[in-house]
Amino acid sequence: MKRILLIGIGAGDPDHITVQAIKALHRVDVFFLLDKGPAKEGLVDLRRMLCERFISGRSYRFVTADSPEWSRSGPDYGAAVDGLNQDKQAIFERLIREEMLEGETGGVLIWGDPSLYDSSIRIMERLAAGTLGIEYEVFPGISSLQALTARHKTTLNRIAKSVEITTGRRLAAAYPPDADSVAVMLDSEFVAKRYADRDLEIYWGAYIGTADEILIAGKLAEVADRIDAVRQQARQEKGWIMDSYLLKQPDK
Ligand SMILES: C[S@@+](CC[C@H](N)C(=O)[O-])C[C@H]1O[C@@H](n2cnc3c(N)ncnc32)[C@H](O)[C@@H]1O
Repeated sequence: MKRILLIGIGAGDPDHITVQAIKALHRVDVFFLLDKGPAKEGLVDLRRMLCERFISGRSYRFVTADSPEWSRSGPDYGAAVDGLNQDKQAIFERLIREEMLEGETGGVLIWGDPSLYDSSIRIMERLAAGTLGIEYEVFPGISSLQALTARHKTTLNRIAKSVEITTGRRLAAAYPPDADSVAVMLDSEFVAKRYADRDLEIYWGAYIGTADEILIAGKLAEVADRIDAVRQQARQEKGWIMDSYLLKQPDK
């Protein structure tokens, strides 16, 4: 039997790794890394660094594969994501077949928490139901939203109210009608700017937990332009941006 551990590693701060995740790292013989090209090699480097820093008294190896290409901007986003996940599934299937010995344990280091906007659990579920004969386990990580709220010293929800976690794409389609707080991820455009006429507070963060972290908070109407400008400049300088934000009604 081959076994795969999906290990949440936090969203950028190496200190966010849990004791449970460190114990899981010590069970892994081979770590699978998906390489997203030179611009994002820091994300692969962080995974290697976590292994060097936290694993002791055990040998392990890395196997790297190129992450599949895909485009967010095509006409059918859902089909593009499905295609991406099928390609990723094919890559993991090959890696498990060809790069693991029977009885070995493989590790996939998942950015943030594996349950939040990450396809690895779905992929492993499908692979485990197929002919590979694998089992898998999931270890939670500190998500980017937990890191965001901690850095801003705020809560996701207001007292006894709801919070909706959504994407920039969905926020662009409509402001969630029933949500009290709205947490937004995967927003390449900073869609919140379109809602600047609403009485909302925003807690925004980019590269949270890393040396490049940027945080801005305030009334949306007052800080939206500044956030837009700062994120555009950061994206230009670094080549990519990873940001999230929380929109809250003001407490009266
Ligand atoms: C594919 S999702 C992965 C989320 C991850 N599983 C988690 O638990 O945070 C990527 C999105 O997470 C958010 N994100 C991840 N890391 C972040 C960070 N260090 N700072 C701000 N946002 C981050 C961004 O919204 C980004 O577009």
